Amino acid sequence: MTYWAFVTGGGGDIGGAICQAMARDGWNIVCVDRAIDRAEAVAAAVRGAGGQALAIEADVTDPAAVAAAVGQAQALGEIRALVNTAGKAHAITLGVTDAASWRADFSVNLDSAFLCVQALKGALMAQGGVIVNIASVNGIGVYGFPGYSAAKAALIHMSQSMAVEFGPADVRVNVVAPGTVRTRAWAARLEANPALFDELKSLCPLQRISDPEDIAEAVVFLASKRASMITGAVLAVDGGLSTGVAAVGRAVTQERHR
Ligand SMILES: NC(=O)c1ccc[n+]([C@@H]2O[C@H](COP(=O)([O-])OP(=O)(O)OC[C@H]3O[C@@H](n4cnc5c(N)ncnc54)[C@H](O)[C@@H]3O)[C@@H](O)[C@H]2O)c1
Repeated sequence: MTYWAFVTGGGGDIGGAICQAMARDGWNIVCVDRAIDRAEAVAAAVRGAGGQALAIEADVTDPAAVAAAVGQAQALGEIRALVNTAGKAHAITLGVTDAASWRADFSVNLDSAFLCVQALKGALMAQGGVIVNIASVNGIGVYGFPGYSAAKAALIHMSQSMAVEFGPADVRVNVVAPGTVRTRAWAARLEANPALFDELKSLCPLQRISDPEDIAEAVVFLASKRASMITGAVLAVDGGLSTGVAAVGRAVTQERHR
């Protein structure tokens, strides 16, 4: 029997890669996004590769829209996976953060995942299932975008609470924390500074920028039976960015003066 995975932000670059990779691993896909044209394109690509997929338009910060999307998805079959990918960063510093941008960061990065879990937890807990929440290295350390980062840190803690509470019902809850991923979310910053990715690469131990597929592979693993003993984990997929910056080590040791 093939089960359905409910993927929010499925029309985005990382979400689209997750939909395609999960379909290759045997899941049927419900691709949920407020940008229905992009969700349709991802669902069509999954079907083109021989999988099953349906696109649903929903703003996952709206409880009524989430309830309607979950109802539509459950008519397809049994949902055994929820991947919360929808997210967006708003204000770049505390200096320019106002009440509206703070609320927007929490709404799309935290509340959306809470609402989707609330709507699906009954079904997941009845049969067992998996939840994977897409956080960020910003939820682990300080890398700018403070409202977004606080929301992602809260998403990590909420996921760990869920892992503990839902574990006895065989629902596993894990987090993937990407570093810098080559997606459209960087477009405006890349336009302003075409050397942006080169600057970021030089700070990253693996000296690379992730592709969306790197994140998708981690999600597929955590959602699979191969990870059946893993819950409450926070898996950084960041080329070592959150582990440390080599230049700091060199400054501390003063190795060039030895
Ligand atoms: N790109 C990166 O470098 C990076 C790094 C760390 C974490 N992330 C996280 O990965 C996730 C995906 O980011 P991405 O870079 O693929 O961005 P993206 O903009 O390509 O994808 C985000 C998708 O979410 C959808 N979305 C946004 N708000 C929504 C809402 N209220 N309801 C329904 N859909 C909504 C958008 O329409 C879009 O399709 C986000 O949670 C982001 O915070 C990205």
